[in-house]
Amino acid sequence: MSIQHEVPSYLTPRDIGPWGVYLEQIDRVTPYLGTLARWVETLKRPKRILVVDVPIERDDGTIAHFEGYRVQHNTSRGPGKGGVRFHQDVTLSEVMALSAWMTVKNAAVNVPYGGAKGGVRVDPRQLSMGELQRVTRRYTSEINIIIGPTKDIPAPDVNTNEKIMAWMMDTYSMNEGSTATGVVTGKPISLGGSLGRQEATGRGVFVVGCEAAARKGMDIRGARVAVQGFGNVGSVAARLFAEAGARVVAVQDHAGTIVSEAGIDVAALQAHVGQHGSVGGYRNAESIADREAFWDVDCDILVPAALEQQITAGNAHRIKAKIILEGANGPTTPAADDILHDKGVLIVPDVIANAGGVTVSYFEWVQDFSSFFWTEDEINLRLTRIMRDAFESVWQISVDKKVSLRTAAFIVACTRVLQAREMRGLYP
Ligand SMILES: NC(=O)c1ccc[n+]([C@@H]2O[C@H](COP(=O)([O-])OP(=O)(O)OC[C@H]3O[C@@H](n4cnc5c(N)ncnc54)[C@H](O)[C@@H]3O)[C@@H](O)[C@H]2O)c1
Repeated sequence: MSIQHEVPSYLTPRDIGPWGVYLEQIDRVTPYLGTLARWVETLKRPKRILVVDVPIERDDGTIAHFEGYRVQHNTSRGPGKGGVRFHQDVTLSEVMALSAWMTVKNAAVNVPYGGAKGGVRVDPRQLSMGELQRVTRRYTSEINIIIGPTKDIPAPDVNTNEKIMAWMMDTYSMNEGSTATGVVTGKPISLGGSLGRQEATGRGVFVVGCEAAARKGMDIRGARVAVQGFGNVGSVAARLFAEAGARVVAVQDHAGTIVSEAGIDVAALQAHVGQHGSVGGYRNAESIADREAFWDVDCDILVPAALEQQITAGNAHRIKAKIILEGANGPTTPAADDILHDKGVLIVPDVIANAGGVTVSYFEWVQDFSSFFWTEDEINLRLTRIMRDAFESVWQISVDKKVSLRTAAFIVACTRVLQAREMRGLYP
């Protein structure tokens, strides 16, 4: 059943983009919301959208203009929280969808945030370091009026990093007249960043992977793991699985695919990638030329940790894994989701599986407020507890209501958001 949605005047109805995918997900969960369904329209409309012009002077003296966005999808449960993406293809629809998925993710793991996201339509590879800094600072100044440690806290996303977070924090602080470390997370440690933040997403993937394996009666020791994407998320998850006794039998990145039935030495592969930029050319595993063959690899656990829409109706039937852990955002299309569900594959959805990053961002924000910093052990212990609790509540709902973990995660999250909405009441 397809429901016709009212498309806001600022989106093109025939090309509604990722926002349309999100609306479909909300339709799937609505029947499970009981009387709270009365408020569901709240989730289908971002609370606040700011579109800004970001002009900079280029190094050659010309003036360039870029389009920037900050979308606060929902702030019923707390300030907005979500990354900033610098990419030439960023659209308002995409930023709206990503902000809404942050609302769901933050509520699913029960951190006290709403959902937000930002973006600038720019290819940062075309900018010098000075130009990149000017784009970052002008964009931050333009969105300054709606961000802040108690209002909306940006973080890194695609093509943004701790250096950019440092510039954002400095720009905001200069505009406010006082140093505000808590305005962004994912900062360098020396500026109020948190220990464990860099590894947090991969660690969260590993923690929910262990929970999922336990429910499936699968022993992590000896389990065969295949990982797509060997960056921040994929390489950390692979390392933790290997340390727990699993065998990493396949790794694919943008430039290569390698397999080894005996297991890949993850530390050696990390060193290779650090030196050469890709898994391509790694000698202690077999290299496969046909990229599509990655999906045929005999494995127990598959971790897509690269890009969106990698697992599709075209390759879902080839997948042999019993468990899929979505390290990436949106790696599985809805059609593939249905095929894998019918095959009995357990998919731990992105809104739970990769929530370790925002969880430790939350710790960073708390530490900045109190100016008291925790040890890495404390951070990892608290992260593990939050991820396990989140998995357990979603698991229970999925068993009780006989729905997928994705629908269950949306039920848990949307119920929390709409309960907050109802308890606060409608202003005025
Ligand atoms: N870093 C985080 O804290 C975090 C948090 C939540 C979600 N995510 C999501 O996880 C995913 C990966 O993020 P990351 O931070 O590890 O990025 P990254 O840039 O560190 O790594 C990305 C990896 O994907 C690989 N890749 C790129 N194109 C590919 C292709 N076509 N086929 C196979 N591999 C390809 C790259 O080679 C690289 O190994 C993204 O979807 C991101 O949104 C990241």
